[in-house]
Amino acid sequence: MQSWLVRVWDLGVRSFHWGLVASVTVCAITGFLVGRQALDLHWIAGAVIAALLLFRLIWGFCGTGYAQFRSFPLSVSAIRQHLAQALAGQPERHLGHNPLGAVMVYALMTVLAAIVLTGVVALGGVAKQGPLAFAMPFADGRSVLSIHNLLAYALLAMVAVHLGGVVFESRRSRENLARAMVTGDKQALPGETAPPRAGRPQAAAMIAAGLAMVVVPGIVLLAHRPGHGVPPATLDAAYVRECGACHMVYPPSLAPAATWNAMMDGLDEHFGENASLAPAVAAPMRAWLAANSAEHWDTRAAVTLRLVDPVTPLRITAAPAWLRFHRSIPASVFAAKPVGVKGNCAACHSDAATGRFDPQNIEVPE
Ligand code: HEC
Ligand code: HEC
Repeated sequence: MQSWLVRVWDLGVRSFHWGLVASVTVCAITGFLVGRQALDLHWIAGAVIAALLLFRLIWGFCGTGYAQFRSFPLSVSAIRQHLAQALAGQPERHLGHNPLGAVMVYALMTVLAAIVLTGVVALGGVAKQGPLAFAMPFADGRSVLSIHNLLAYALLAMVAVHLGGVVFESRRSRENLARAMVTGDKQALPGETAPPRAGRPQAAAMIAAGLAMVVVPGIVLLAHRPGHGVPPATLDAAYVRECGACHMVYPPSLAPAATWNAMMDGLDEHFGENASLAPAVAAPMRAWLAANSAEHWDTRAAVTLRLVDPVTPLRITAAPAWLRFHRSIPASVFAAKPVGVKGNCAACHSDAATGRFDPQNIEVPE
């Protein structure tokens, strides 16, 4: 039987597909395996996914025949018919997506879009970064982060089903579907011709450019707004002078007002040192500490460190959350130079003075 090749997947569909494979892989590795330290790479790959999804949305209307959404509609009757034919061992041939494949395409795109959206919300609320940092409370960001994580597991499962489906269909139809997604071509049977509809790449490029001209500056503008509940980076001058004499200056957002009050009450016996201050200096400092204590801010550090250790409430480094964050660090690292003591936050957190404690700004010295 004579056969020849037809172009099924155009360059747009193939670029989208393999771009997605690459960016989802980067997100999965940075998200599941590396963790917070790789947050930058994680969100950049997430932004690539968002851009690819938007492109695919446009291409679903402007692409060539099999790229267009109308060539693979979501249809319950078509799925039923396809399943019935498949069970009878006589599935109808589809050069493009078959009805079940179409379900998978739409489901994957929907879940990916949901992962991107929950990711932006979580990034804003938990890390106070990205376009939603100005608006998202920490608590909401944390809830949405657990949805983001659940969706990521769901996506892994769907990818597994998708791969299983590709292997199954490739065997059944004796046609390497993965290779077809690389070359774009499939073996045509007599009577099968290339898709009748031509693509409109210029229209797609214009829509994409127009969208990018609005969306990109919008995101950049939003991302530059001050974060919701992020304390100001500059501290009271008297506080920096007096309390920075012996150790790093602790931003007041790292402990609750009760801790700061108790500390001001006992400055003459401050961790074995006399750190007492003249009343004229102490009174306004006490007021300033109370007005800027952890209860007033919404960063991860402020929200988690406001719960102190009941026995040693004056030690930030005894707070349950502090111990949790640092449990993987051996005591010897804190004791050795250049850290010295646990309370020397700035030795590992380059943004410690601002009170932000961004995961990207952590580096434990050798
Ligand atoms: C005379 C030196 C000195 C001065 C001045 C001083 N401190 Fe301290 N501070 C210490 C020492 C010593 C420790 C204990 C360090 C250790 O062993 O970890 C300490 C610990 C702390 C801790 C606990 C750190 C942790 O491990 O959680 C806080 C918070 C703190 N100081 C705040 C202040 C504030 C606020 C002021 C200003 C009102 C101040 N300090 C002024 C010497 C000083
Ligand atoms: C020896 C280095 C070191 C010192 C000193 C240190 N940290 Fe950390 N901190 C780390 C590391 C590493 C992590 C990340 C741990 C992880 O993700 O498993 C971390 C995580 C954190 C986090 C969570 C950040 C996030 O969003 O994931 C906070 C908040 C934090 N530290 C606050 C503090 C404060 C406050 C101090 C000082 C009182 C301090 N750290 C001292 C190394 C240090």
